[in-house]
Amino acid sequence: MLVKHSKFVCLYYMVIVMSWCTPAVSFSVINSLPGFNAPLPFKLETGYIGVDDVEFFYYFTESERNPAEDPLLLWITGGPGCSSLSGFFFEIGPLRFNMVEYNGSLPTFFLNQYAWTKVSSIIFLDAPVGTGFSYSRMPQGFKTGDMKHAISCYNFLRKWLESHPKFLTNPLYIAGDSYSGMIIPIITQAISDDIEDQGMLTLNLKGYLLGNPYTDRNFDFNSKIPYCNRMAFISDELYESAKKNCKGEYSKVEGRNQRCANDLQAISECTARINEMHILEPYCPSEFPEVDVLENKRKYFLETYEDYLHMSAGYPQFGCRNYYCYLLKVWASDISVQEALHTRKGTIKEWVRCNRSMDYDNAVQSTLSYHLHLNKRGYRALIYSGDHDLAVPYIGTESWIKSLNLSIVDDWRPWFDDGQVGGYSRKYGNDFTFATGAGHTTPEYNPKECFAMFSRWISQQPL
Ligand SMILES: *[C@@H]1O[C@H](CO)[C@@H](O)[C@H](O)[C@H]1NC(C)=O
Ligand SMILES: *[C@@H]1O[C@H](CO)[C@@H](O)[C@H](O)[C@H]1NC(C)=O
Ligand SMILES: *[C@@H]1O[C@H](CO)[C@@H](O)[C@H](O)[C@H]1NC(C)=O
Repeated sequence: MLVKHSKFVCLYYMVIVMSWCTPAVSFSVINSLPGFNAPLPFKLETGYIGVDDVEFFYYFTESERNPAEDPLLLWITGGPGCSSLSGFFFEIGPLRFNMVEYNGSLPTFFLNQYAWTKVSSIIFLDAPVGTGFSYSRMPQGFKTGDMKHAISCYNFLRKWLESHPKFLTNPLYIAGDSYSGMIIPIITQAISDDIEDQGMLTLNLKGYLLGNPYTDRNFDFNSKIPYCNRMAFISDELYESAKKNCKGEYSKVEGRNQRCANDLQAISECTARINEMHILEPYCPSEFPEVDVLENKRKYFLETYEDYLHMSAGYPQFGCRNYYCYLLKVWASDISVQEALHTRKGTIKEWVRCNRSMDYDNAVQSTLSYHLHLNKRGYRALIYSGDHDLAVPYIGTESWIKSLNLSIVDDWRPWFDDGQVGGYSRKYGNDFTFATGAGHTTPEYNPKECFAMFSRWISQQPL
């Protein structure tokens, strides 16, 4: 049992919140946005929901198809600490930035015809605290970590549904990618525990979706070296040598194991200029060293101090994919935009896409047991993996899924979109589907294929 959230505590909490003169829930309908020169052709709402000391900010887009019946998703971008606007503008939301060099005019948008909001309603949540526009009213509220993050997302969701009761009956899914692999299975299990407990506001939980999810330190990190070999970044000889000298354990290198250290150094030299997020795309200094999150002790492997240097030197260059991050930063920092979004003035010092200075405890090492548990209870899961991602390689994802020993009900096969291979999938007992395609944040790279995958899976059709 992860969370006990009794109604009594909830009432008590409401009283406290009111005495602070901050409403526990407040939201606004947004009809237009700076950067898009027309009324929005979809329904957008933004708002704040208070959970303990924290005011969580969210963006909600109603399904453009049939909001009364279409599934409802809670989407959390990874990091931890990356704003859900990344998911909204770069991956699955209804708007995308025009890739134009910034000249002082506010960045502009076009409509994303492959938005997942075409077939589902999505709450894009800025979490944990310190992410995007979410903030704490009290200094101690900024302290967070994997468990607290997951439980506050769950409490956020309950309050959101309490204030939007018409969505209580829609099929509910929890979704996200990258670091959210550590959080979403915990949220999903917390909801499912309370459903089994009865007596609570019952959520119509159906399952969860994860893209290139960071799931297990050992599986994910150790898969990087075989991945480098399969993708021909390193020779078979170097791979065999590393495998032998490091005994397949590449993350915890004993200080005295010089041979292993030498091999990892040689591997690092071969891969230093590879774009981890998509191995076929140009290497561009990232706005921050994203992979650092996956491995705090990157003593030997894929460590590029240049990332750190470039980070302080400024923003991504025009022509690089991550120039979008710069456009987003300019847009979200603009006063007219913040007014249009109805954010609360003076609550955050500066808007950053990914907050790297959170007080965050990465306590969870693996979410395998959650996946197993949820599968036993019959929840659906779609685990998709951009197979050109070196940050969380598909090999690790494939291996941890195999380790769950689920029976295969539809074996490895290509799936198609417009007659072309969209990716590959294997389906396990209780609708646990593993699908491949693209880079780290898959819908950012292959929006069309990912939309086909998502809309089929979410409407219970085979991929
Ligand atoms: C910036 O470029 C856009 C076209 O991409 C143009 O419409 C706008 O007027 C330019 N703004 C300035 C300040 O030059
Ligand atoms: C990042 O998070 C910390 C701790 O949650 C917070 O104090 C800080 O204001 C945040 N930084 C930004 C730039 O939002
Ligand atoms: C899967 O099977 C292997 C080999 O039989 C066993 O060692 C492992 O514990 C099983 N894992 C689970 C999660 O049941």
